[in-house]
Amino acid sequence: MTVPVIAIDGPSASGKGAVAHQVAEALGFHCLESGALYRLVALAGPEHPEQTARAMQVTFQGGRIFLSGQDVTDKLREEAVGARASDVAQCPEVRRALLERQRAFRRPPGLVAEGRDMGTVVFPDAALKVFLTATPAVRAQRRHKQLIDKGIDANLAALSRDLAQRDERDAARAVAPLAPAPDALQLDSSERPLAQVVGLILGWCRERNLGGRA
Ligand code: DC
Repeated sequence: MTVPVIAIDGPSASGKGAVAHQVAEALGFHCLESGALYRLVALAGPEHPEQTARAMQVTFQGGRIFLSGQDVTDKLREEAVGARASDVAQCPEVRRALLERQRAFRRPPGLVAEGRDMGTVVFPDAALKVFLTATPAVRAQRRHKQLIDKGIDANLAALSRDLAQRDERDAARAVAPLAPAPDALQLDSSERPLAQVVGLILGWCRERNLGGRA
């Protein structure tokens, strides 16, 4: 029997990460934050991204991410690393090299995978595909709050500009651009609290008989 996948795609700061983790937790599924792999390539070897994507030693353990044994979880979240990740993500060889790494996360009882091309390229046979959006203003505010909460100084106008640039680059690239799969259910989270978004997705999972615990 194939292991079920729930694909959640969408632009930066649409809430994919938090939503994916909560849906995975509720269903007892594994969770893949695919952006972390692109961020790891950006951090580990931006000058030889293709080679790095194939060879880097990564461990995901207890909610932390280790690169060659070193905990890089917090470093990966930095805005500068995200911007570089969006750059290396344009390279077709990097995307190809990361394909198998991402697919290896598909293990019983199931996987919730979030990113830009989960439903279109990496798991086109996903049992449920969600395209999560939010208005640019709401996304910039969310990212601003995340940074301030972590004690990182942030400027709302500059963040807004950076997010818009990143989305444009992610949507315009030739390979696996950010776009909803034709069979994805679109969900706008702008006016919805996290719990409501998670509840809606869990409802769609129940309709499809996904996850014993839902
Ligand atoms: O989701 P994130 O912000 O951590 O992703 C960082 C960058 O990685 C994003 O700007 C584009 C790229 N990315 C991608 O191209 N494909 C994915 N499935 C996930 C991320």
